[in-house]
Amino acid sequence: MTLRQWDDAGLAPFTAMNADDRVMEFFPRKLAPEESQAFFMGAKNAIAKRGWDFWAVEIGGKFAGFTGLANPRFESLFTPCTEIGWRFRPEFWGKGYATEAARLALLYAFSTLRLEEVVSFTAEVNVRSARVMQRLGMTHDPKDDFDHPKLSAGHRLQRHVLYRIKNTPQTLARLKTELGSAKLSHAPGQWAV
Ligand SMILES: CC(C)(COP(=O)(O)OP(=O)(O)OC[C@H]1O[C@@H](n2cnc3c(N)ncnc32)[C@H](O)[C@@H]1OP(=O)(O)O)[C@@H](O)C(=O)NCCC(=O)NCCS
Repeated sequence: MTLRQWDDAGLAPFTAMNADDRVMEFFPRKLAPEESQAFFMGAKNAIAKRGWDFWAVEIGGKFAGFTGLANPRFESLFTPCTEIGWRFRPEFWGKGYATEAARLALLYAFSTLRLEEVVSFTAEVNVRSARVMQRLGMTHDPKDDFDHPKLSAGHRLQRHVLYRIKNTPQTLARLKTELGSAKLSHAPGQWAV
């Protein structure tokens, strides 16, 4: 597995992923091809410029999904902040890949960017995503939960859970142990943009 810059071969599977009912179950709607293209270009340009954003995840030479870091564009009690997020093609679910990819992204956040804290949030009903947060060792205080400001009152996805993880020597050591030395070279920043 490698977290890497987006390349054109990834655009078609990325567009298909964003139009898949299973993948988009906990989003307000699926993405149209031009929206996927805008997302793709936005992430690609950001990585070229500053080295980070949502990275494409490549597994066995194939585009498997994405994970990475972003700054939420809405205001809330916990913003400004850096979030970690993920989205994978269904054939790559159930194998621990999302968690492993997120560990590589967290390592970048803590050891390269030296961020103090990373958060993650998802609709309360998106249990699969919350389980990734738990596997990463992120913690959840119900007092942090919030209604997403971009969703209307009563929307089925409005209520969100927030998880946090702090940059401590223990967290860094644990991430490195979980990843193992062979995988560290697949972290973002280990390859040329
Ligand atoms: C959220 C999402 C990335 C989670 O993917 P996932 O494959 O369930 O997550 P993980 O990579 O942590 O894999 C864990 C699963 O792999 C299994 N697994 C198999 N081998 C494993 C291994 N070696 N290590 C860890 N887990 C393993 C686990 O048992 C678990 O399966 P289960 O949930 O059926 O018990 C995926 O469901 C997705 O892309 N959803 C759509 C997009 C989305 O909602 N994104 C989040 C928006 S906030």
